[in-house]
Amino acid sequence: GAMIDITDRKMAEEKLKQTLEELRKANEELEAYVHAISHDLRAPLRNLQGYVSALVEDYGEKLEEDARFYLSRLKALTEKMDGLINDLLEYARVSKAKAEVRRVDLNLIVEDVLDYLKDEIRGKSAVIEIEKLPAVKGDRKLLFTVMLNLISNAIKFVEEGVRPEVKVWAEDVNGKVRVYVKDNGIGIPEEYHEKIFNIFERLHGEEVYPGTGVGLAIVKKAMEVMGGRYGVRSGIYFR
Ligand SMILES: Nc1ncnc2c1ncn2[C@@H]1O[C@H](COP(=O)(O)OP(=O)(O)OP(=O)(O)O)[C@@H](O)[C@H]1O
Ligand SMILES: [Mg+2]
Repeated sequence: GAMIDITDRKMAEEKLKQTLEELRKANEELEAYVHAISHDLRAPLRNLQGYVSALVEDYGEKLEEDARFYLSRLKALTEKMDGLINDLLEYARVSKAKAEVRRVDLNLIVEDVLDYLKDEIRGKSAVIEIEKLPAVKGDRKLLFTVMLNLISNAIKFVEEGVRPEVKVWAEDVNGKVRVYVKDNGIGIPEEYHEKIFNIFERLHGEEVYPGTGVGLAIVKKAMEVMGGRYGVRSGIYFR
């Protein structure tokens, strides 16, 4: 009868709620581990970098060419590791962030981002076109992080020898602001449109395009923290 159906559904709902809550807690715990581990890795890594530098400086001259080469590789690898740890810490920081939501002028945010990326933009002779953007309700720091990662990806993932062309504009979608960052790069196959927002998900080797695969995971977290949405669109027909 109807009564039993409703009771069944209620129980199913209750169970779902419980499972979701357990998942949320497990996730929170995991993010706390990420923070603790990356933080603890930092100190020994600094020491390691110190010793490598000392070896290069104090004994570099006395070493054979091979040994000097190994040391330079070691140095590059510790720097790579340092970058990874910093990315993980940033990811953990954004995950734990409480959004400080206020009215933010997106034009100023994007200006700061372009200033931050100026060497890269100049290095690749990228052409960046920014339309006039609206004010939004959001967290200044989180919005900066989001725009930084999107624009830096837009400049990075182009075919070799191609001058990056990036366009940023906003549209009103049912009273919400949707910001687009469009590029003339290699594109993203449809089946990866969601996956690329997972941490460490990368579609290319480090040799081709450098990076750690944390940027879009940070974008996803930041948008979740602010109660916004994110996504990918591709195809030549959108403006
Ligand atoms: N604009 C883009 N065009 C083509 N592919 C992209 C673009 N943005 C992201 N991707 C793909 O999604 C992957 C994940 O992006 P994400 O920003 O998380 O990592 P990353 O840029 O490789 O490294 P990081 O941002 O941590 O330095 C990229 O490695 C790339 O394969
Ligand atoms: Mg990136």
